[in-house]
Amino acid sequence: MSAPPRVLMCPPDYYGIEYEINPWMNLQAGTEPAVARQQWQGLRQALTNLGVIIETINPVPGLPDLVFTANAGLVYQNLILLSRFRFGVRRKEEPYNLKWFQAHGFEVELLPEGLFFEGAGDSLFCGETLFAGYRFRSDARSHLWIGDRLGVRTLPLELVDPRFYHLDTCFCPLNETTAIYYPGAFDDYGRTVLQDQIPELIQVSAEEAVSFSCNAVVVGRVIILNEGAPKLARTLQDRGYDTCPLPLTEFIKAGGSAKCLTLRLDGEEAATWRTSTTTLTSQLNRGRVQESSNP
Ligand code: ARG
Repeated sequence: MSAPPRVLMCPPDYYGIEYEINPWMNLQAGTEPAVARQQWQGLRQALTNLGVIIETINPVPGLPDLVFTANAGLVYQNLILLSRFRFGVRRKEEPYNLKWFQAHGFEVELLPEGLFFEGAGDSLFCGETLFAGYRFRSDARSHLWIGDRLGVRTLPLELVDPRFYHLDTCFCPLNETTAIYYPGAFDDYGRTVLQDQIPELIQVSAEEAVSFSCNAVVVGRVIILNEGAPKLARTLQDRGYDTCPLPLTEFIKAGGSAKCLTLRLDGEEAATWRTSTTTLTSQLNRGRVQESSNP
């Protein structure tokens, strides 16, 4: 039997709107802490019911967005490429993420100075390819560096609509050959790349995209997504997926939903490396052997 999926979450004890760094955030509107807690527990419970092991990072006062663990970094096998946030208010999360991953047996690596990168929020594997969003948060240069570091094909996609400022707000791989996406979040080039590279692309309407329906968590054939996307849910069910719609409205107030609140520690369902027997060390060693045997 294969090991159960593992997901990192952060309890919303200090979650709230304390600044505005994306169009969803509104200091005046604020959040309802009790409702946020209930919704977060609902997500945690739904994952637990699917056999997912939940690991938690301690919440920290003054870091309201630490709940969005998808932004901690990009996991690749036993390595975490730690995020370097675009905004100073979130950069304060970095030392806590660093500590957590060091304490939990990951090899931690930082990007070179001057590059911004917001982790799984902006980089998602579909098959062997890493699809990577840039402009509002991560830099295209970061993605090129990452592709090189991991030795994986990386396709940077420009995000053009500030409401969909992270890739995981408008794109979600379901398995190695299937993904959902909201076309309006990409430019023509990005749409063409996705259409060329992913055999089965499911379009989400503008109306359902603003319900954060692309910000879904995939566990096997089950898709946990925000309520408010009945058309997408039907399409997914027709394709043999089970859907689990949850109310996560309190987190949409900060520009996040189910996916942002989780980080898959054993690799996303759609990532080929998860099930492949090649290890990072053996890949790197192979690279080294080839390099050193070159005259
Ligand atoms: N308020 C957070 C920010 O603007 C939300 C992050 C959402 N996370 C995500 N993976 N899309 O950074």
